[in-house]
Amino acid sequence: IRHNPLAEDAETVDVGGAVVIPGFCDSHTHPVFSGARISDFALRTAGADYAAVKAGGGGIISSVKGVRESSESALKKKLLARAEKFLMAGTTTIEAKSGYGLSKESEIKSLRAIRHAAAECPLGMVPTLLAAHSLPPEFSDADSYVSHIMAEIIPAVGAEKLAVFADIFCERGFFTPAHVRELMACAKAHGLKPKVHAEQFTHCGGLEAAADCGAVSADHADLADSRDIGLLKSSGTVATLLPASNHFLGLSKFPPARALIDGGAAVALATDFNPGTSPCWNMQFVLSLACTHMGMTPEEALCAATVNGACAMGLSGTAGRIEVGLPADFAVMDVDDYRELCYYFGDNMCVMTVKNGESVYISG
Ligand code: NIG
Ligand code: FE
Repeated sequence: IRHNPLAEDAETVDVGGAVVIPGFCDSHTHPVFSGARISDFALRTAGADYAAVKAGGGGIISSVKGVRESSESALKKKLLARAEKFLMAGTTTIEAKSGYGLSKESEIKSLRAIRHAAAECPLGMVPTLLAAHSLPPEFSDADSYVSHIMAEIIPAVGAEKLAVFADIFCERGFFTPAHVRELMACAKAHGLKPKVHAEQFTHCGGLEAAADCGAVSADHADLADSRDIGLLKSSGTVATLLPASNHFLGLSKFPPARALIDGGAAVALATDFNPGTSPCWNMQFVLSLACTHMGMTPEEALCAATVNGACAMGLSGTAGRIEVGLPADFAVMDVDDYRELCYYFGDNMCVMTVKNGESVYISG
């Protein structure tokens, strides 16, 4: 602990023994969409799984109509309301993906909504292009849609500097490891850094492709095996685990956090906030899942939700830590011991959020 003299204009806040942590760095969210997907939810509560919901016309594609029909300012307004929820739960920075437009116009509209929302609210937002989220109705095969993304969407997004990252959903029925490799080569050539959704429902080589292309993070990783873990370790790719989606999909299996950590991979935790598989913006719930279902210690879970989340967003030097010289991004939690953050669940324990030294939320 270093003791620095107080700056002349410093404000002292007595938090009465509450716990102060770095603001959560939620490194995987899909916050640009129009409405909830209650019909998918109804199908699932009646027993359908994610693949069956998709086959019945639900899934990602059912959020596309809403985004295509919304104006940029309507999307921005919804995003600002959601940003408020993240701040109230102690999150100070999110990674925010497009991915429900699936056309040049609507992906760019989504990314502009993120840019303009970020300029109007204190929540930090790191934008990601996720045009390769699902096959849009205008295309009959994934190869030609990936070619279209590379020829039309990535160059336009790169030219307008609308995104820091490009992401792809590598999964059976969506995109292949070969698509990951070609799309990420193109993304890098246009200044976008790779991220990959990999090994969520089926093991199809997404983590290997992510490691090969030097992805900053590989996300979900539910089916990572020991070979994948070795590859992630050597490429320095952060494994971003998203247990709130396992919870919401009613899965009994959770991401293999213990094997990843013990195998030397860096692990981050994020909400995966999205209307289909994880309508959750509260990182405190993710901490509970990580400790209760994934064998993580409270210390590992808190690091994964803050400093490692920052690394997964390319912000290792500037976010996720409380340190002299870094922006003051804190969450004040109404608990006596930091481990209680992983112990209580279902409530919001955040009573104050500070972003860049300014108080941006106080409960009550
Ligand atoms: O991370 N896996 C792909 N994308 C999301 C689901 C998006 C949706 O169903 O709308 C996820 O779980
Ligand atoms: Fe996702």
